[in-house]
Amino acid sequence: MEKVLTQHIGLPNLWTMDTYRSLGGYQTLEKALRDYKPDELVTIVRDAGLRGRGGAGFPTGVKWGFLPKDNRQRYLVCNGDESEPGTFKDRLLIENDPHQILEGLIISCYAVQVRLAFIYLRGEFFLGAQRLQAAIDEAYAAGYLGPNILGTDVSVEVLVHRGAGAYICGEETGLIESLEGKRAYPRIKPPFPANIGAFGMPTVVNNIETLANVRHIVERGAAWYNSIGPERNRGMRMWCVSGKVKHPGVYELPLGMPLRDIIFKHAGGLHEGRTLKAVIPGGASARILTADEAMAVDSDFDALQRAGSMGGSGGMMVLDDTVCIVQSTLILAEFYHDESCGQCSPCREGTGWMAKILHRIEHGDGRPGDIDLLLHMGTNIFGRTICPLGDAAVWPVESAINKFRAEFEYHLREKHCLPGTTSIL
Ligand SMILES: Cc1cc2nc3c(=O)[nH]c(=O)nc-3n(C[C@H](O)[C@H](O)[C@H](O)COP(=O)(O)O)c2cc1C
Ligand code: SF4
Repeated sequence: MEKVLTQHIGLPNLWTMDTYRSLGGYQTLEKALRDYKPDELVTIVRDAGLRGRGGAGFPTGVKWGFLPKDNRQRYLVCNGDESEPGTFKDRLLIENDPHQILEGLIISCYAVQVRLAFIYLRGEFFLGAQRLQAAIDEAYAAGYLGPNILGTDVSVEVLVHRGAGAYICGEETGLIESLEGKRAYPRIKPPFPANIGAFGMPTVVNNIETLANVRHIVERGAAWYNSIGPERNRGMRMWCVSGKVKHPGVYELPLGMPLRDIIFKHAGGLHEGRTLKAVIPGGASARILTADEAMAVDSDFDALQRAGSMGGSGGMMVLDDTVCIVQSTLILAEFYHDESCGQCSPCREGTGWMAKILHRIEHGDGRPGDIDLLLHMGTNIFGRTICPLGDAAVWPVESAINKFRAEFEYHLREKHCLPGTTSIL
């Protein structure tokens, strides 16, 4: 299958305007401005079946359609925070092909009639910030950004806003608060950003990979995009495969490919002599799959959801038989405790408490009842918080216990990890 978003990655100086234009860059922007009205572009993106690549997989065209039909100032925010553990695809695009993102973003701004867009960038992306800003400067100089783009009455301005490395700034309303210069406390929804978003105005928040797709959908048409992948799960997906595989990396593949093929055909399979233990398919927040579950599931949004997990941010973490499940669950629990913004008690207190219990189980101090206590705590966090981080903190723990309970019990009983699993803590 031909690659789309990553087709040019690896070419020298791809991030410069000259190289991007030599590959046909910005011709789709010209076509969009020349041949389509904004509403027609929204329809194309909706008909293409593009679903958001940031985590929730919400249909992009439908989200755009939620913007109110009034004449308030509106914004587009491109989410480049990429903070979900195991996810590194947006970074690849930002550092290597920033003009592709910009072209998709400018077309999207025209489609939803936005004159000012923000790109919220993860603070640690130093090279990405440089390359992206340089690309924006080039796009202004070439007349693809700024007032009267290519002689039309369309104007788009873009500002890069760099975060400071907090996971919660990836959550769209936390991001908006941060963009406004405040602490990134997620907001209660409703109201949704489409109605009251950045600076109190209607706002669309879309992921980097999502917006990059828009360029190709407009170039090649909704029918082309709609022909890739299973129904309701269209297009290519950039899977970030990490963990115990021979060739970790970003693999752009059609949605719906068997997950086993991603691991064994594309990422080179496991190291010699190892067997698959589990897969976390969609970033740290996704429920863990056993090896059998992972080998039987397809890699699309709906199939992964039916299997009890999710495609999430595309961060696929592969665990082999040397991995201690208790330890890996502890690592994730500590992450959520560190990154909880502290706004709601169940998340602020619960994430720390879960991490503490897991720590004592892992280190041989577990108490009888700890496993059920963890499950019980999860029920008191899940669904009782302002933003989904609370749920996301529960899923790894709850799913690891439900699927690998014997390993947790072994730790309680024997006070150490299963033989053959190695401790990295
Ligand atoms: C705790 C948390 C962290 C998130 N981090 C990111 C992120 O780093 N990047 C991202 O695009 N979306 C992230 N999201 C999802 C965003 O809230 C939002 O749904 C997404 O940016 C919308 O873009 P899309 O429709 O193109 O997927 C996060 C959500 C949560 C709850
Ligand atoms: S769930 Fe956690 S991260 Fe989200 S608002 Fe509440 S305390 Fe903050």
